[in-house]
Amino acid sequence: MRKETARVAAQESIATDIYSLTLRVSFADEVKPGQFLSVYSADGARLLPRPISICDVDLNEGTVRLVYRIAGKGTAEFSKLTPGSCIDVLGPLGNGFPVEEFRDQRVLLVGGGIGIPPLYCTAKSLSNPVFAVGYRSETYLLRDISDRFETHIATEDGSLGTKGNVLDAIRADGIEADVIFACGPKPMLRALKEYSKDAGIRCFVSMEERMACGVGACLGCVTRTVEQDAHSFVKNARICKDGPVFDAEEVDLT
Ligand SMILES: Cc1cc2nc3c(=O)[nH]c(=O)nc-3n(C[C@H](O)[C@H](O)[C@H](O)COP(=O)(O)OP(=O)(O)OC[C@H]3O[C@@H](n4cnc5c(N)ncnc54)[C@H](O)[C@@H]3O)c2cc1C
Ligand code: FES
Repeated sequence: MRKETARVAAQESIATDIYSLTLRVSFADEVKPGQFLSVYSADGARLLPRPISICDVDLNEGTVRLVYRIAGKGTAEFSKLTPGSCIDVLGPLGNGFPVEEFRDQRVLLVGGGIGIPPLYCTAKSLSNPVFAVGYRSETYLLRDISDRFETHIATEDGSLGTKGNVLDAIRADGIEADVIFACGPKPMLRALKEYSKDAGIRCFVSMEERMACGVGACLGCVTRTVEQDAHSFVKNARICKDGPVFDAEEVDLT
């Protein structure tokens, strides 16, 4: 993990308020699927970096691709970056998905909305992935995913695929898998935890929380865990350092 000034190789708007940003970095070959970057604002008033997942890596170009939604002032500032400009980043951060352990198994990658991006590079590291992706209405990254991988789609308004949420698509299409890797809103992760328990398969969830230091020092991003931590004797884990990926059974998603 290191902090450096990255040069913008490309940036484009890919849907309403959704951007794809490609950055030239020195650590592209160190990235593990499911890790993220802390991206710093150039505005001194916003001291804390914004965590954004790594969506893709190009080892030949030495670049990483981030796909993000404008949520506030930080991400709005990033959306103005143009090729050739620079931005400070720290990374790669977090643990990532357990791709080595499940490489040859049937892995169901479940993404909800802006949780979909880290699953794209994760899928590229697996031999037999299947996607279930859920959108409100407008899609993004869908062509990248469905061109390469078996993909099942849900939209809330029924404009594409199954009408409803991503679990509705999983049930409607009868998708079978050995293990689930998921990233998306907490209600989706909670529902998937229940679903995987009933189906008797393991489920790993990538969690999001507001972050401060991003490296495990400030306890600004803790989530409740089921078991007590052996050192601190509290039922907490740091999403930035211990996660963002957890076995769903280990975290309290209520
Ligand atoms: C590990 C991790 C990976 C992430 N990956 C992505 C990604 O790939 N693409 C993407 O678009 N976003 C991602 N996020 C969320 C992203 O970090 C926030 O949207 C961003 O920090 C908002 O910054 P801002 O200055 O634009 O908005 P702010 O003004 O800081 O906040 C605007 C709104 O967003 C909410 N918000 C802020 N931070 C978070 C957060 N971490 N999680 C949930 N809601 C938040 C605030 O409560 C507020 O309502 C990720 C978050 C984490 C923790
Ligand atoms: S953001 Fe500081 S410990 Fe996670």
